[in-house]
Amino acid sequence: MKELAAELRKYKQVFVVCDRNVEGFAREVTGLRTGGRSGEPCGLLAITADEAHKTIDSVMLICRWLLEMGADREALVLAVGGGVTTDMAGFAASIYKRGIRYANVPTTLLSMVDAGIGGKTGVNLDGFKNLLGVIRQPEFTAIFPDALQTLPEREFRSGLAEMLKTFIIKNPSHAYERTVAEGPLPELIQMAAGIKQEIVEKDEFESGVRRKLNLGHTWGHAIEWRLPGAYSHGEAVAIGMVQAARYAERFGIAEEEGLAARIGKDLKACGLPTELPCPVSELLPAIAKDKKAQNGQIRLVLPVRIGKVVVKKVDPSTL
Ligand SMILES: NC(=O)c1ccc[n+]([C@@H]2O[C@H](COP(=O)([O-])OP(=O)(O)OC[C@H]3O[C@@H](n4cnc5c(N)ncnc54)[C@H](O)[C@@H]3O)[C@@H](O)[C@H]2O)c1
Ligand SMILES: [Zn+2]
Repeated sequence: MKELAAELRKYKQVFVVCDRNVEGFAREVTGLRTGGRSGEPCGLLAITADEAHKTIDSVMLICRWLLEMGADREALVLAVGGGVTTDMAGFAASIYKRGIRYANVPTTLLSMVDAGIGGKTGVNLDGFKNLLGVIRQPEFTAIFPDALQTLPEREFRSGLAEMLKTFIIKNPSHAYERTVAEGPLPELIQMAAGIKQEIVEKDEFESGVRRKLNLGHTWGHAIEWRLPGAYSHGEAVAIGMVQAARYAERFGIAEEEGLAARIGKDLKACGLPTELPCPVSELLPAIAKDKKAQNGQIRLVLPVRIGKVVVKKVDPSTL
């Protein structure tokens, strides 16, 4: 917390935008007082952070508040919350006065290892997820694992799936095995966040290596589309990762024997689902329509072993 305070002192004005469910934590972690002096936040706006409120209207609300508060071009917006909050506050900061700086204090496991890193910001439009947005990097992402103490169990597991995904892509110091055995220890969360950061630095606009982060998401997104609300994002991705591993085995891409069974067992041990809730044929329409599909082919991320994945263009019918 001391480090965050020191970081905030670098900015003339700091405006905190937090999820109202973590307002207490946000006040504590930012040392919010009445404000005004350099480094002390000038104000805090608590917002409703759910998918239904992840809209341009909420972003306008944030922008209007910044204007009323007298935020100038040197101001910093500090987002405190899960991915909904960091996506919206980051987007608001990116368009206010043609873009001011922002930083994240993620409060869900998913936002610590994924949403809070990488600079993708945005909101939903007419039921289309993240249709409006920009890619703009935060000044920093400060992780306080203590924030997770109040996180609902299901949200926690959802983040765990994305964290394991990261370690299937890259697995330094047996981070994958340790996460399965010991849970998301602070050191492991930091490691997963670092891997995502490293990938993003190599490929900010997702034309190469960043695609690897979509492991499990081809099936995952389709499950979320087919059975809305039945699975959390991470749960759907967990099922997708097992499917990806099975596919990799079927087409001789997996080098590790029993890779799919191993991933399935590990995800299950973490309380995550691993089996498709419907025949794959029911998912194909969504998979084929994937916004990243190119002349009928989709890019599939396939695990070779724990710590290595490859991206292959395939025909959706092979699924
Ligand atoms: N920008 C990106 O790269 C990126 C990546 C992945 C996901 N996302 C986006 O992130 C969003 C999902 O974010 P999320 O899973 O982090 O969660 P979220 O922001 O949807 O929060 C989930 C729930 O947990 C509550 N909550 C948050 N922190 C809490 C805490 N510490 N204690 C108690 N309750 C808490 C929230 O109020 C909410 O009810 C989606 O909208 C998705 O599109 C963005
Ligand atoms: Zn995801």
